[in-house]
Amino acid sequence: MEAKRWLRAVLFTIIVVGLFANLFIKDSNEAQHTHAGEHEELSDQQHVHISTTFSWLKNIVLNLALGDWQSNNIPSSEQPEKPHIVTFTPNLSTCHKSFAKPGFQVYCCPPKPESEESFIDFKIPDLSSPRRIRRRAHLADKDYIAKYNKALTIMKSLPYEDPRSFRRQADMHCIYCTGAYNQQYSNASFSIHRQWLFFPWHRMMIYFHERILGSLIGDDTFALPFWQWDAPEGMVTPAMYMDGAFTDTEREETHVHIPRIADINYDYNDTEIEPEQRIKKNLAFMYHQMVSGAKKVELFMGCQSKPGKDGVCDGPGTIELAPHNALHTWVGKALNRYRENMGVFYAAARDPIFYAHHSNIDRMWEYWKELRGYEPEIVDPVWLNSHFFFHNENSQLVRVRIGDILNITKLGYGYEKVDYPWLNARPKPSIDPKIARCTLNTRNNGILGAHLNDFRPEGRTLDTNIEVKVHRPKRQRRSEEEEEVLVVYGIDVKIDMFVKFDVYINAIDATSIGPESREFAGTYVNVPRGITIEMNEGDEKMKKKSNLKMGISELLQDLEANEDDSIWVTLVPRSGTGVNTTVDGIRIEYMD
Ligand code: C2O
Repeated sequence: MEAKRWLRAVLFTIIVVGLFANLFIKDSNEAQHTHAGEHEELSDQQHVHISTTFSWLKNIVLNLALGDWQSNNIPSSEQPEKPHIVTFTPNLSTCHKSFAKPGFQVYCCPPKPESEESFIDFKIPDLSSPRRIRRRAHLADKDYIAKYNKALTIMKSLPYEDPRSFRRQADMHCIYCTGAYNQQYSNASFSIHRQWLFFPWHRMMIYFHERILGSLIGDDTFALPFWQWDAPEGMVTPAMYMDGAFTDTEREETHVHIPRIADINYDYNDTEIEPEQRIKKNLAFMYHQMVSGAKKVELFMGCQSKPGKDGVCDGPGTIELAPHNALHTWVGKALNRYRENMGVFYAAARDPIFYAHHSNIDRMWEYWKELRGYEPEIVDPVWLNSHFFFHNENSQLVRVRIGDILNITKLGYGYEKVDYPWLNARPKPSIDPKIARCTLNTRNNGILGAHLNDFRPEGRTLDTNIEVKVHRPKRQRRSEEEEEVLVVYGIDVKIDMFVKFDVYINAIDATSIGPESREFAGTYVNVPRGITIEMNEGDEKMKKKSNLKMGISELLQDLEANEDDSIWVTLVPRSGTGVNTTVDGIRIEYMD
């Protein structure tokens, strides 16, 4: 016993030292990333050698420290001994019942608790197994559509008891997206939206979905398509979703009908604009969400939640907010209470287009990694060692560790090579910054303090535009790498509903411009969960106020405002959706 404790103490010390060292030595797992099967030559061999050794050591140490909990197949109902590093893992014995409205139950829990199944640990597919190449949905040919249609039809015909059935797949999203499971080692719910679990969980959900579809038609090269809403040709709902097993009656017909260009920053506002204008707005918006607004990991991946109720955060990354959330709402049927199916989390995955939407979301993650040279996005062991559970094509329950799914080439799939037209869609100021400056200078600090950056403890309601002058703590960034970040904090969405507001900097008239203008700094989008979880005694109701963080260094430079002591910030609630939402304040932070 003593010896064991001593050993653990030593291991713990090694971890701390190791983590510290990690600040200096880059993990090589990702540096050795090979893309589309080609091996990239690495320039600094020595560095790679040191860090490979280091990461090998680190893995051993972490696995030892995490103990049996990591390596054995223990049914999750037996609560194993608490490891030293607690990570995110759902407690499969806790699935909560839920209600969509009074008297209407939404059964998304599995018919038999998953905790009663044994599970296997995820293995990277054999390198010799065929690759799956995901291609553009709008260019899908007849043969591919027929093949996919057949697989989907079979999947839809499987009984609900079969975890591979379409409805079970959809309900799994319902479970995880509404917080129906608790976390292991705490009574806080396990949730995968609005923070750094968003990308990895959805990657693996569609990964297994794709493999199940393929196995149902005996095709191990089958790959999902992606809805390329980030390029003009792909912005229309892909035609294949209008027929056969791909249809869904619960879509907003006026939106998904061809050839309407999707509004990837949808805000309930259906005013008609010319398709060319919409495309221009969409591309500038993509540039913002992928490039200027996503220069730091947290801005793109979402905030770093930690296990337990106190560590949970609510701060989605750029792409999750929109196009992800916005397009969910755009596709869902406006007449339905929560815009089911796509417009609400409990029902979203019932629409086959969900999988093509998420395929593109996953592609954006991959491309963002490519843009930053595959530098590992997160090296925090909490994230790397967090787990999800999915059923594979053989109906086996599989435990997946985030650290194992960061390289899609190793996962056996890839994306067809296409252009990214938004890369050079950097927006321009709507008004010459010098002219704007004159107008802004005449804005006095507010009769009755109207423009004071003072939100009082109770916060301000977003029932109307909020325009304030925000002080910049410093005028010079420490280095080119340091990012100035505008934070709208303490966003409290009081009613489970769609909420959207946009943020502008130094705008003369924020209501008349959009993401095509450089003054646009970001958007906040809340998608309703749509159901109420029935809590067990002792379970924690998880509700955190949200933060919206926006990288603004490039924008301030383009607005010629990077020498100024303060900036004007305008929050513009969209289509009256902010009436039940308050904000605690606005400040500026810096990220390294
Ligand atoms: Cu879990 Cu597109 O949502």
